[in-house]
Amino acid sequence: MASVIMVYSTTDGHTLKICKRLREVIEQHGHEVTIAELKPGVDIDLGPFERIVIGASIRYGKHKPEVADFIERNVEPLRAKPSAFFSVNAVARKPEKRDPDTNPYVRKFLKSISWQPPAIGVFGGKIDYAKYGFVDKTMIRFIMWMMKGPTDPNSVTEFTDWDAVDAFGRKIAADGPA
Ligand SMILES: Cc1cc2nc3c(=O)[nH]c(=O)nc-3n(C[C@H](O)[C@H](O)[C@H](O)COP(=O)(O)O)c2cc1C
Repeated sequence: MASVIMVYSTTDGHTLKICKRLREVIEQHGHEVTIAELKPGVDIDLGPFERIVIGASIRYGKHKPEVADFIERNVEPLRAKPSAFFSVNAVARKPEKRDPDTNPYVRKFLKSISWQPPAIGVFGGKIDYAKYGFVDKTMIRFIMWMMKGPTDPNSVTEFTDWDAVDAFGRKIAADGPA
């Protein structure tokens, strides 16, 4: 049995939902999973854990800055232990953009950090217009219009391929991603 920590960064909670699904899969394999939210100014001690997973969503083209900050502060344990990273974004609703090499945010992000995660997941996110304030709603509708995605302000669309999430969970559970 391994102890696994999942550190996540979210705005609207979908990355947490993915973490919870991963936890279910990993726990089914007999491991213990702790989920911790990454927030500015809050440090998370990775010391007690044998495997590390970091998950973060994209907003306006970027993961939150605290994600890269946390990674740089913890490069040592991230390199030493089996580890994995996953990104959640709307571009990944297209199957051909769900690979670390083809998803523009993940490609760019990996170039900007000192850790090269041995396992990487890229998952489609969720667009739930009712949750957003006026500015975000207007902006994301515009982005979706450009990307030929849903623009109906009453729509809720989940782009996540849960089978792919389950497979990622099994990979982490099997032997550790490294
Ligand atoms: C205001 C806003 C801006 C967003 N910007 C982008 C973006 O630039 N690119 C993208 O692929 N997805 C973008 N998204 C989609 C989010 O990545 C998606 O909703 C994801 O599920 C959010 O995850 P979270 O709930 O964990 O924060 C945006 C969503 C919102 C609401």
